[in-house]
Amino acid sequence: MGQLEGKVAVVTGGAGGIGRACCERFAEEGADIVVADLFDEAAMDTIEAVEKRGRRATYMRTDASSPTDTGTVMQHAIDTFGAIDVLVTAAGIATADHAGGRPGPPAPIERDPIRRFTDSPLAEWQRVLDVNLTGTLLAVQAAARWMVALGRRGSIITIASIAAKHPEAGGPAYSVSKAGVWMLTKQAALALGPAGIRVNAIGPGFIESNMTAVLRGMPELEQQLLGSVALGRLGSAREVANAALFLASDQSSYFTGEMLHPDGGFYTD
Ligand SMILES: NC(=O)c1ccc[n+]([C@@H]2O[C@H](COP(=O)([O-])OP(=O)(O)OC[C@H]3O[C@@H](n4cnc5c(N)ncnc54)[C@H](O)[C@@H]3O)[C@@H](O)[C@H]2O)c1
Repeated sequence: MGQLEGKVAVVTGGAGGIGRACCERFAEEGADIVVADLFDEAAMDTIEAVEKRGRRATYMRTDASSPTDTGTVMQHAIDTFGAIDVLVTAAGIATADHAGGRPGPPAPIERDPIRRFTDSPLAEWQRVLDVNLTGTLLAVQAAARWMVALGRRGSIITIASIAAKHPEAGGPAYSVSKAGVWMLTKQAALALGPAGIRVNAIGPGFIESNMTAVLRGMPELEQQLLGSVALGRLGSAREVANAALFLASDQSSYFTGEMLHPDGGFYTD
């Protein structure tokens, strides 16, 4: 019997690297999956991967920053599978130009740290905060409303980053959005604990995915980043999904308001 047998999981960003790995890992443990993303073609690959593992899956095109879309996909989960037991909020962007729905790596990172800060446009700040932070809030609120209404003692897993605590691990908007996700996670844990709903974050280090694909063209920067990683390599999305499985399952029944760091030993201070 799988660790998530008979459970229903909604995964935002389920078409992406970490989101898809969570869908696959959860399906292997018996969960049915609702994929919310903007990237239709890649979402279909996730659906296929879940079905190959013998579980049911459904996809709805969803902009994580839209309250309407987010409400609709949660309703879709209820209409299709009758419950929401697990939520993973993996929809996220490193920069505004790396919008969901468009394959390919983000634009090269501005290397000059002063210009990276002083010349960052307001629109950049707003889009990254809208998707990463407000999008997480909307999904947590909408899923929690259903969990409470249906009396499900659910598990909510937000995807933050080591950048939530270490400014050198991401740009200003990204790091601030992830620091916000971390505090939002603790706020939600406090508010939803009495309903038996656990809320935890995962703060991954540098993980191989579309988001870090830009590093492949910048070996010098990759080596510099890996210099702060004890294991000296990028992590895999599956290694993050294993942490998500722990938080989704009863194995973590006394964890809430915590952040796990699959980061290969990221060390800066
Ligand atoms: N890859 C890393 O090194 C790393 C490290 C720490 C945290 N994270 C976080 O993990 C999460 C997943 O990232 P990933 O590495 O799998 O990258 P990814 O780019 O492969 O996946 C991100 C997914 O989010 C989707 N998305 C983007 N904007 C969206 C929107 N507005 N609405 C709905 N979906 C949207 C994309 O279509 C994509 O499928 C992100 O929140 C990211 O910040 C990644």
